[in-house]
Amino acid sequence: MSLFKEIVERSPFGVIVIDKNSKEVIYTNPTFRKWKINERKGFLEKLLNSPRGELEIDGHHYRVSHFTEGDKEIFLLEDITDLKTYQRAKRDFVANVSHELKTPISVIGSIAETLFYEEEDPFKKRFLERILKRAKEMEALVEDLLILAALESKEGKVIWDKVNLHNLVEEVFQNLKEVAEEKKVELLNEVPPETYCTCDEHKIFILLKNLVENAIKYNREGGKVWVRSYPEGEYRVIEVSDTGIGIPKKHLPLIFERFYRVDKSRSREIRGTGLGLSIVKHIALIHGGKVEVESEKGKGSTFRVYIPLKGSPTKEPPKGG
Ligand SMILES: Nc1ncnc2c1ncn2[C@@H]1O[C@H](COP(=O)(O)OP(=O)(O)O)[C@@H](O)[C@H]1O
Ligand SMILES: [Mg+2]
Repeated sequence: MSLFKEIVERSPFGVIVIDKNSKEVIYTNPTFRKWKINERKGFLEKLLNSPRGELEIDGHHYRVSHFTEGDKEIFLLEDITDLKTYQRAKRDFVANVSHELKTPISVIGSIAETLFYEEEDPFKKRFLERILKRAKEMEALVEDLLILAALESKEGKVIWDKVNLHNLVEEVFQNLKEVAEEKKVELLNEVPPETYCTCDEHKIFILLKNLVENAIKYNREGGKVWVRSYPEGEYRVIEVSDTGIGIPKKHLPLIFERFYRVDKSRSREIRGTGLGLSIVKHIALIHGGKVEVESEKGKGSTFRVYIPLKGSPTKEPPKGG
C-alpha cells in the first residue's frame, strides 16, 4: 500500500471520492464507512449541495471540504458534532444567565433610583448615584447579551420585508434624540424619502441604533452624524458617518470583536458594553451582507453596511463568533 493510501485509510477525516460524470461513489475510507452515512437516502445530493461547507445528517454535523482531481470529486468530512454541541451549550448558558440577571438588576436599579431622588444627605446621595450608574451599565450589558443570544438562536432568522429606510432612520433618531441633545450632536437623515430596502426591519433597526449611538457617543460636542443610503453593485449600502474622535488604524480590524473597546481609560467615561459592533456585524452577516469601516483619528468615522439588493432566503446564522 502506498504511503498516501495508508494515511487516507487511517485518517480521522471521512473521505469519499465520486465520479464527476456518473456521480457514482468510487472510494470511501474506513472512517467514512464507520459513519454509515452513505446509506442515508438523498445523502449524495445533500453532500453535493452542502451550504457553507457544512452538512447535517441525523443530528450529526460535518464540516465538508471539496476539491476536484481529473474526473474525480473528492470530499473530506470532519465530524464536528461535539463542537456544535459545545457551542450550543455555551450559547444557552450565556442566554440563561443573562435572562436570570435581568430582573434582579432592574429591581436594584429602580430601588436605587427611588432612594436617590429622596435622599438629602449629599454623601449618601453620591453613593446612590454610583449604584444607579452601575446598575444601568449592567442592564445595558444584559440587554446586549440577550440580543446576541436571540440573534444566534432560531429568533435570529431574517424576516424579509420591504422596509422604508428613510422612516426607519427617523425612528432611530427619535429613539436617540436625548442622547444626541445631551451631547449637542446634530443628526441628519440624508436617506431620500422613498428609499426601500429588503431586510428584517427590527434587526436593521437594532443595527442602525448601535451605529448611530456610537456616532453620537464618540463624537465631539457640536458634531454631526449623517445617515445615507445608495445602491452599489448588488448591494444597498447604508452609511453612518460622524465628525467624531475616529479610530486609530491598528484597532480597526478588532472593533467588531465582542467586548473590544478602543481606549480603555477613555471608554470608562463613555459608557458602553463593547458588544454593539459585534451585534452590527452579526446582523449584516445573517442578511448575507457585510460591514466595513473607514476612519481617521480626530476627523471621524464612516461605517458602511451592505445588504444584498435581492433579499435572499433565510440563511443560517454565521458560524462561531
Ligand atoms: N463612530 C465611532 N467613532 C469612534 N470610535 C468608535 C465608533 N464606533 C465604535 N468605536 C470604537 O469601537 C469600540 C466598540 O464599539 P461597540 O462595539 O459599539 O462598543 P461600545 O460602544 O459599547 O464601546 C468602541 O468602544 C469605540 O472605541
Ligand atoms: Mg456601541
